[in-house]
Amino acid sequence: MKILVTGGAGFIGSNFIRYWLNKYPNDNIINLDALTYAGNLENLRDLENNKNYKFVKGNICDKDLTNDLVKEADAIINFAAETHVDRSILDAENFIKTNVLGTYNLLEAAKNNGSKRFHHISTDEVFGHLGINDPIFNESTPYAPRSPYSASKAASDHLVRAYYHTYGLPATISNCSNNYGPYMFPEKVIPLFITNLMEGKKVPVYGDGMNVRDWLYVEDHCEAIDIILKKGKIGETYCIGGNSEKPNIEITKKIIELMGKDESSIEYVKDRPGHDRRYAIDFSKIKNELGWEPKVFFEEGLKKTIEWYKNNQTWWKNIKSGDYQKYYEKQYGK
Ligand code: NAD
Ligand code: DAU
Repeated sequence: MKILVTGGAGFIGSNFIRYWLNKYPNDNIINLDALTYAGNLENLRDLENNKNYKFVKGNICDKDLTNDLVKEADAIINFAAETHVDRSILDAENFIKTNVLGTYNLLEAAKNNGSKRFHHISTDEVFGHLGINDPIFNESTPYAPRSPYSASKAASDHLVRAYYHTYGLPATISNCSNNYGPYMFPEKVIPLFITNLMEGKKVPVYGDGMNVRDWLYVEDHCEAIDIILKKGKIGETYCIGGNSEKPNIEITKKIIELMGKDESSIEYVKDRPGHDRRYAIDFSKIKNELGWEPKVFFEEGLKKTIEWYKNNQTWWKNIKSGDYQKYYEKQYGK
Protein backbone atom coordinates (compact mmCIF):
# COMPACT_ATOMS: atom_id res chain seq x y z
CA MET A 1 0.00 0.00 0.00
CA LYS A 2 1.24 3.50 -0.84
CA ILE A 3 -0.05 6.19 1.48
CA LEU A 4 0.16 9.92 1.00
CA VAL A 5 0.40 11.44 4.47
CA THR A 6 0.00 15.21 4.60
CA GLY A 7 1.43 17.16 7.53
CA GLY A 8 3.68 14.25 8.44
CA ALA A 9 6.45 16.47 9.82
CA GLY A 10 4.21 17.66 12.66
CA PHE A 11 3.45 16.03 15.99
CA ILE A 12 0.79 13.40 15.24
CA GLY A 13 1.76 12.89 11.59
CA SER A 14 5.38 12.05 12.45
CA ASN A 15 4.28 9.65 15.20
CA PHE A 16 1.88 8.07 12.69
CA ILE A 17 4.54 7.57 9.98
CA ARG A 18 6.86 5.93 12.50
CA TYR A 19 4.01 3.74 13.81
CA TRP A 20 3.00 2.71 10.28
CA LEU A 21 6.45 1.84 8.95
CA ASN A 22 7.20 -0.17 12.09
CA LYS A 23 4.01 -2.14 11.72
CA TYR A 24 3.88 -2.38 7.92
CA PRO A 25 7.53 -2.15 6.80
CA ASN A 26 6.70 -3.08 3.19
CA ASP A 27 4.26 -0.21 2.68
CA ASN A 28 5.34 3.09 1.14
CA ILE A 29 4.75 6.50 2.67
CA ILE A 30 5.05 9.85 0.96
CA ASN A 31 5.06 12.69 3.45
CA LEU A 32 3.87 15.99 1.95
CA ASP A 33 4.54 18.82 4.37
CA ALA A 34 4.97 22.57 3.88
CA LEU A 35 7.32 22.79 6.90
CA THR A 36 5.51 25.67 8.53
CA TYR A 37 6.82 26.68 11.97
CA ALA A 38 5.16 23.46 13.28
CA GLY A 39 6.81 21.11 10.77
CA ASN A 40 10.16 19.69 11.82
CA LEU A 41 12.13 17.10 9.87
CA GLU A 42 14.08 16.23 12.99
CA ASN A 43 10.88 14.43 14.04
CA LEU A 44 11.64 11.86 11.33
CA ARG A 45 15.43 11.81 11.35
CA ASP A 46 15.46 8.04 12.07
CA LEU A 47 13.49 7.34 8.87
CA GLU A 48 15.51 9.48 6.48
CA ASN A 49 17.27 6.47 4.95
CA ASN A 50 14.25 4.18 4.87
CA LYS A 51 13.69 3.31 1.21
CA ASN A 52 9.93 3.10 1.78
CA TYR A 53 9.70 6.67 3.05
CA LYS A 54 9.88 9.80 0.92
CA PHE A 55 9.59 13.43 2.01
CA VAL A 56 8.20 16.10 -0.31
CA LYS A 57 8.29 19.72 0.75
CA GLY A 58 5.10 21.36 -0.49
CA ASN A 59 1.75 22.87 0.29
CA ILE A 60 -1.56 21.02 0.25
CA CYS A 61 -2.99 24.08 -1.52
CA ASP A 62 -0.68 23.45 -4.53
CA LYS A 63 -2.99 21.91 -7.16
CA ASP A 64 -0.38 20.46 -9.54
CA LEU A 65 1.79 18.99 -6.83
CA THR A 66 -1.09 17.41 -4.90
CA ASN A 67 -2.56 16.06 -8.13
CA ASP A 68 0.76 14.35 -9.01
CA LEU A 69 1.22 12.90 -5.53
CA VAL A 70 -2.38 11.75 -5.13
CA LYS A 71 -2.15 10.00 -8.52
CA GLU A 72 0.64 7.78 -7.14
CA ALA A 73 -1.10 6.92 -3.86
CA ASP A 74 -3.61 4.25 -2.82
CA ALA A 75 -4.83 6.31 0.13
CA ILE A 76 -4.52 9.82 1.53
CA ILE A 77 -4.45 10.65 5.22
CA ASN A 78 -4.84 14.36 5.80
CA PHE A 79 -3.10 15.54 8.98
CA ALA A 80 -1.89 18.85 7.53
CA ALA A 81 -3.42 21.80 9.34
CA GLU A 82 -2.79 24.91 11.31
CA THR A 83 -3.51 23.58 14.78
CA HIS A 84 -2.87 26.03 17.61
CA VAL A 85 -6.00 27.75 18.93
CA ASP A 86 -4.12 30.77 20.35
CA ARG A 87 -2.52 31.45 16.95
CA SER A 88 -5.93 31.26 15.25
CA ILE A 89 -7.18 33.94 17.64
CA LEU A 90 -4.29 36.24 16.69
CA ASP A 91 -4.58 35.66 12.92
CA ALA A 92 -6.90 33.15 11.25
CA GLU A 93 -5.85 33.57 7.61
CA ASN A 94 -3.54 30.54 7.36
CA PHE A 95 -6.14 28.44 9.17
CA ILE A 96 -8.68 29.19 6.46
CA LYS A 97 -6.13 28.67 3.68
CA THR A 98 -4.73 25.35 4.88
CA ASN A 99 -7.59 23.81 6.80
CA VAL A 100 -10.40 24.77 4.43
CA LEU A 101 -8.87 25.44 0.99
CA GLY A 102 -6.09 22.88 1.45
CA THR A 103 -8.58 20.14 2.34
CA TYR A 104 -10.80 21.15 -0.59
CA ASN A 105 -7.79 20.92 -2.90
CA LEU A 106 -6.87 17.42 -1.66
CA LEU A 107 -10.47 16.27 -2.02
CA GLU A 108 -10.52 17.50 -5.61
CA ALA A 109 -7.27 15.64 -6.32
CA ALA A 110 -8.68 12.46 -4.73
CA LYS A 111 -11.92 12.75 -6.73
CA ASN A 112 -10.17 13.46 -10.04
CA ASN A 113 -7.74 10.56 -9.72
CA GLY A 114 -10.12 7.62 -9.58
CA SER A 115 -11.77 8.43 -6.25
CA LYS A 116 -8.92 7.64 -3.86
CA ARG A 117 -9.49 6.41 -0.29
CA PHE A 118 -9.38 9.52 1.90
CA HIS A 119 -9.11 9.73 5.67
CA HIS A 120 -9.45 13.13 7.28
CA ILE A 121 -8.01 13.81 10.73
CA SER A 122 -10.22 16.13 12.70
CA THR A 123 -10.80 17.29 16.23
CA ASP A 124 -13.38 17.18 19.01
CA GLU A 125 -13.32 21.00 19.03
CA VAL A 126 -15.77 21.08 16.09
CA PHE A 127 -18.53 20.16 18.56
CA GLY A 128 -18.03 23.33 20.59
CA HIS A 129 -17.72 22.96 24.34
CA LEU A 130 -19.50 21.34 27.27
CA GLY A 131 -20.71 22.40 30.67
CA ILE A 132 -19.67 20.23 33.57
CA ASN A 133 -22.94 18.21 33.55
CA ASP A 134 -23.53 18.06 29.77
CA PRO A 135 -23.57 14.70 27.98
CA ILE A 136 -20.24 14.09 26.25
CA PHE A 137 -19.60 14.44 22.49
CA ASN A 138 -20.41 11.63 20.09
CA GLU A 139 -20.80 11.28 16.31
CA SER A 140 -24.34 12.75 16.45
CA THR A 141 -23.44 15.88 18.40
CA PRO A 142 -24.27 18.95 16.28
CA TYR A 143 -21.31 21.02 15.14
CA ALA A 144 -20.87 24.28 17.11
CA PRO A 145 -17.25 25.44 16.77
CA ARG A 146 -16.26 28.53 18.77
CA SER A 147 -12.69 29.45 17.73
CA PRO A 148 -11.33 30.31 14.27
CA TYR A 149 -9.32 27.06 14.47
CA SER A 150 -12.29 24.84 15.25
CA ALA A 151 -14.49 26.68 12.72
CA SER A 152 -11.91 25.99 10.00
CA LYS A 153 -11.71 22.30 10.99
CA ALA A 154 -15.53 22.08 11.02
CA ALA A 155 -15.61 23.53 7.49
CA SER A 156 -13.09 20.92 6.33
CA ASP A 157 -15.14 18.09 7.87
CA HIS A 158 -18.26 19.33 6.06
CA LEU A 159 -16.36 19.36 2.77
CA VAL A 160 -15.17 15.77 3.28
CA ARG A 161 -18.72 14.62 4.00
CA ALA A 162 -20.01 16.56 0.99
CA TYR A 163 -17.50 14.80 -1.29
CA TYR A 164 -18.65 11.43 0.03
CA HIS A 165 -22.35 12.17 -0.48
CA THR A 166 -22.06 14.08 -3.76
CA TYR A 167 -19.28 12.26 -5.59
CA GLY A 168 -19.11 8.96 -3.71
CA LEU A 169 -15.54 9.68 -2.58
CA PRO A 170 -14.54 6.81 -0.26
CA ALA A 171 -13.87 8.98 2.75
CA THR A 172 -13.86 8.64 6.53
CA ILE A 173 -13.35 11.21 9.27
CA SER A 174 -12.08 10.89 12.83
CA ASN A 175 -12.66 13.51 15.53
CA CYS A 176 -10.10 13.07 18.26
CA SER A 177 -9.58 14.62 21.68
CA ASN A 178 -6.34 16.23 22.93
CA ASN A 179 -3.22 14.20 22.15
CA TYR A 180 0.06 14.25 24.05
CA GLY A 181 3.38 12.42 23.75
CA PRO A 182 6.81 12.66 22.05
CA TYR A 183 7.50 15.31 19.37
CA MET A 184 4.66 17.60 20.46
CA PHE A 185 5.51 21.21 19.65
CA PRO A 186 6.26 23.09 22.88
CA GLU A 187 3.58 25.72 22.40
CA LYS A 188 0.87 23.24 23.44
CA VAL A 189 0.19 23.04 27.14
CA ILE A 190 1.84 19.74 28.19
CA PRO A 191 5.19 20.15 26.38
CA LEU A 192 5.23 23.89 27.14
CA PHE A 193 4.91 23.21 30.85
CA ILE A 194 7.43 20.33 30.89
CA THR A 195 10.07 22.34 29.01
CA ASN A 196 9.43 25.55 30.97
CA LEU A 197 9.99 23.65 34.21
CA MET A 198 13.24 22.16 32.84
CA GLU A 199 14.35 25.70 32.01
CA GLY A 200 13.47 26.92 35.53
CA LYS A 201 10.58 29.05 34.20
CA LYS A 202 7.03 29.40 35.46
CA VAL A 203 4.03 27.68 33.85
CA PRO A 204 1.24 30.03 32.62
CA VAL A 205 -2.19 28.62 33.58
CA TYR A 206 -5.02 30.35 31.71
CA GLY A 207 -7.97 31.68 33.74
CA ASP A 208 -8.97 29.59 36.77
CA GLY A 209 -7.26 26.42 35.48
CA MET A 210 -10.57 24.54 35.56
CA ASN A 211 -10.97 24.00 31.81
CA VAL A 212 -11.20 20.30 31.09
CA ARG A 213 -9.61 18.31 28.25
CA ASP A 214 -9.83 14.57 27.48
CA TRP A 215 -6.23 13.37 27.00
CA LEU A 216 -5.10 10.58 24.66
CA TYR A 217 -1.57 9.25 24.23
CA VAL A 218 -0.54 9.82 20.60
CA GLU A 219 0.25 6.15 19.87
CA ASP A 220 -3.32 5.23 20.77
CA HIS A 221 -4.51 7.79 18.22
CA CYS A 222 -2.22 6.29 15.55
CA GLU A 223 -3.67 2.85 16.23
CA ALA A 224 -7.22 4.19 15.91
CA ILE A 225 -6.40 5.73 12.51
CA ASP A 226 -4.87 2.42 11.37
CA ILE A 227 -8.04 0.55 12.33
CA ILE A 228 -10.30 3.10 10.61
CA LEU A 229 -8.23 2.98 7.43
CA LYS A 230 -8.32 -0.82 7.36
CA LYS A 231 -11.78 -1.58 8.74
CA GLY A 232 -13.75 1.69 8.91
CA LYS A 233 -17.01 1.97 7.02
CA ILE A 234 -16.84 4.38 4.09
CA GLY A 235 -18.78 7.60 4.72
CA GLU A 236 -18.61 7.22 8.48
CA THR A 237 -17.21 9.41 11.23
CA TYR A 238 -15.50 8.00 14.31
CA CYS A 239 -14.98 9.82 17.60
CA ILE A 240 -11.70 8.98 19.36
CA GLY A 241 -11.11 9.81 23.01
CA GLY A 242 -8.90 8.99 25.94
CA ASN A 243 -11.45 8.34 28.69
CA SER A 244 -9.28 10.73 30.64
CA GLU A 245 -10.94 14.04 31.44
CA LYS A 246 -8.71 16.33 33.52
CA PRO A 247 -8.87 19.98 34.53
CA ASN A 248 -5.75 21.89 33.45
CA ILE A 249 -4.74 22.67 37.01
CA GLU A 250 -4.72 18.96 37.92
CA ILE A 251 -2.39 18.23 35.01
CA THR A 252 -0.22 21.19 35.93
CA LYS A 253 0.17 19.94 39.50
CA LYS A 254 0.86 16.39 38.30
CA ILE A 255 3.62 17.58 35.94
CA ILE A 256 5.11 19.69 38.73
CA GLU A 257 5.06 16.71 41.10
CA LEU A 258 6.56 14.28 38.57
CA MET A 259 9.33 16.78 37.81
CA GLY A 260 10.18 17.35 41.48
CA LYS A 261 9.20 21.04 41.43
CA ASP A 262 6.77 22.94 43.65
CA GLU A 263 3.63 24.95 43.11
CA SER A 264 5.44 28.29 43.27
CA SER A 265 6.10 27.58 39.54
CA ILE A 266 2.41 28.17 38.76
CA GLU A 267 1.46 31.55 37.37
CA TYR A 268 -2.23 32.24 36.70
CA VAL A 269 -2.50 34.42 33.58
CA LYS A 270 -5.24 36.11 31.56
CA ASP A 271 -7.70 33.66 30.04
CA ARG A 272 -7.80 32.68 26.35
CA PRO A 273 -10.64 34.63 24.62
CA GLY A 274 -13.68 32.36 24.13
CA HIS A 275 -11.85 29.60 26.02
CA ASP A 276 -13.79 26.33 25.59
CA ARG A 277 -14.65 25.02 29.04
CA ARG A 278 -14.75 21.28 28.59
CA TYR A 279 -14.26 18.61 25.92
CA ALA A 280 -15.01 14.92 26.42
CA ILE A 281 -15.54 12.14 23.91
CA ASP A 282 -17.77 9.10 23.88
CA PHE A 283 -15.78 6.58 21.81
CA SER A 284 -18.25 3.70 22.06
CA LYS A 285 -18.84 3.60 18.27
CA ILE A 286 -15.22 2.84 17.37
CA LYS A 287 -14.96 0.52 20.37
CA ASN A 288 -18.09 -1.50 19.52
CA GLU A 289 -17.77 -1.49 15.73
CA LEU A 290 -14.00 -1.63 15.18
CA GLY A 291 -12.66 -2.92 18.51
CA TRP A 292 -10.46 0.08 19.37
CA GLU A 293 -9.98 1.57 22.81
CA PRO A 294 -7.16 3.53 24.42
CA LYS A 295 -4.39 1.44 25.97
CA VAL A 296 -2.19 3.98 27.75
CA PHE A 297 -3.39 5.36 31.11
CA PHE A 298 -2.84 9.08 31.55
CA GLU A 299 -0.30 8.92 34.37
CA GLU A 300 1.77 6.26 32.55
CA GLY A 301 1.67 8.30 29.31
CA LEU A 302 2.58 11.51 31.12
CA LYS A 303 5.59 9.85 32.78
CA LYS A 304 6.77 8.51 29.40
CA THR A 305 6.29 11.95 27.86
CA ILE A 306 8.27 13.74 30.58
CA GLU A 307 11.04 11.14 30.20
CA TRP A 308 11.09 11.74 26.44
CA TYR A 309 11.46 15.53 26.86
CA LYS A 310 14.23 14.96 29.44
CA ASN A 311 16.08 12.66 27.02
CA ASN A 312 15.57 14.86 23.95
CA GLN A 313 16.56 18.29 25.16
CA THR A 314 18.37 19.18 21.94
CA TRP A 315 15.13 18.59 20.02
CA TRP A 316 13.03 21.06 22.01
CA LYS A 317 15.87 23.51 22.70
CA ASN A 318 16.39 23.77 18.92
CA ILE A 319 12.70 24.62 18.60
CA LYS A 320 12.71 27.18 21.35
CA SER A 321 15.84 28.80 19.82
CA GLY A 322 14.52 28.55 16.23
CA ASP A 323 17.46 26.36 15.05
CA TYR A 324 15.19 23.50 13.96
CA GLN A 325 14.13 25.57 10.97
CA LYS A 326 17.68 25.31 9.60
CA TYR A 327 17.52 21.47 9.52
CA TYR A 328 15.79 21.23 6.11
CA GLU A 329 18.41 23.46 4.51
CA LYS A 330 21.24 21.41 6.04
CA GLN A 331 19.76 18.12 4.77
CA TYR A 332 18.28 19.14 1.45
CA GLY A 333 19.84 22.50 0.50
CA LYS A 334 17.73 25.61 -0.10
P1 NAD B 1 1.08 20.11 14.14
O1 NAD B 1 0.78 21.57 14.19
O2 NAD B 1 2.07 19.54 15.07
O3 NAD B 1 1.54 19.71 12.65
C1 NAD B 1 0.90 20.17 11.52
C2 NAD B 1 1.77 19.83 10.31
O4 NAD B 1 1.09 20.27 9.13
C3 NAD B 1 3.12 20.52 10.32
O5 NAD B 1 4.15 19.61 10.00
C4 NAD B 1 3.00 21.60 9.25
O6 NAD B 1 4.23 21.93 8.63
C5 NAD B 1 2.03 20.94 8.29
N1 NAD B 1 1.29 21.90 7.48
C6 NAD B 1 0.64 23.02 7.90
N2 NAD B 1 0.11 23.67 6.86
C7 NAD B 1 0.40 22.95 5.75
C8 NAD B 1 0.10 23.09 4.37
N3 NAD B 1 -0.61 24.13 3.91
N4 NAD B 1 0.56 22.15 3.52
C9 NAD B 1 1.28 21.09 3.96
N5 NAD B 1 1.61 20.92 5.25
C10 NAD B 1 1.17 21.83 6.14
O7 NAD B 1 -0.32 19.40 14.28
P2 NAD B 1 -0.76 18.06 15.06
O8 NAD B 1 -0.98 18.41 16.48
O9 NAD B 1 0.17 16.98 14.68
O10 NAD B 1 -2.19 17.82 14.40
C11 NAD B 1 -2.32 17.04 13.21
C12 NAD B 1 -3.79 16.94 12.85
O11 NAD B 1 -4.52 16.37 13.93
C13 NAD B 1 -4.45 18.29 12.58
O12 NAD B 1 -5.34 18.14 11.50
C14 NAD B 1 -5.20 18.61 13.86
O13 NAD B 1 -6.32 19.43 13.61
C15 NAD B 1 -5.61 17.22 14.31
N6 NAD B 1 -5.79 17.03 15.77
C16 NAD B 1 -4.79 17.39 16.64
C17 NAD B 1 -4.96 17.11 18.01
C18 NAD B 1 -3.89 17.47 19.02
O14 NAD B 1 -4.13 17.32 20.22
N7 NAD B 1 -2.70 17.90 18.62
C19 NAD B 1 -6.14 16.50 18.46
C20 NAD B 1 -7.13 16.17 17.52
C21 NAD B 1 -6.94 16.42 16.18
O1 DAU C 1 -9.10 18.90 21.47
C1 DAU C 1 -8.21 18.69 20.43
C2 DAU C 1 -7.38 19.93 20.22
O2 DAU C 1 -6.43 19.98 21.27
C3 DAU C 1 -6.67 19.96 18.87
O3 DAU C 1 -7.63 20.01 17.86
C4 DAU C 1 -5.75 21.18 18.77
O4 DAU C 1 -5.03 21.16 17.56
C5 DAU C 1 -4.78 21.12 19.93
O5 DAU C 1 -3.95 22.26 19.91
C6 DAU C 1 -5.53 21.06 21.26
O6 DAU C 1 -6.23 22.30 21.52
P1 DAU C 1 -6.28 22.94 22.99
O7 DAU C 1 -6.59 24.37 22.86
O8 DAU C 1 -7.12 22.11 23.90
O9 DAU C 1 -4.72 22.70 23.42
P2 DAU C 1 -3.66 23.62 24.17
O10 DAU C 1 -2.49 22.77 24.49
O11 DAU C 1 -3.43 24.91 23.45
O12 DAU C 1 -4.42 23.96 25.53
C7 DAU C 1 -4.88 22.93 26.39
C8 DAU C 1 -5.55 23.60 27.59
O13 DAU C 1 -4.53 24.27 28.36
C9 DAU C 1 -6.55 24.66 27.21
O14 DAU C 1 -7.61 24.66 28.15
C10 DAU C 1 -5.77 25.97 27.33
C11 DAU C 1 -4.79 25.68 28.45
N1 DAU C 1 -3.49 26.38 28.39
C12 DAU C 1 -2.81 26.32 27.20
C13 DAU C 1 -1.58 26.94 27.07
C14 DAU C 1 -0.82 26.90 25.76
C15 DAU C 1 -2.96 27.02 29.49
O15 DAU C 1 -3.60 27.05 30.57
N2 DAU C 1 -1.75 27.64 29.37
C16 DAU C 1 -1.03 27.63 28.20
O16 DAU C 1 0.07 28.23 28.15
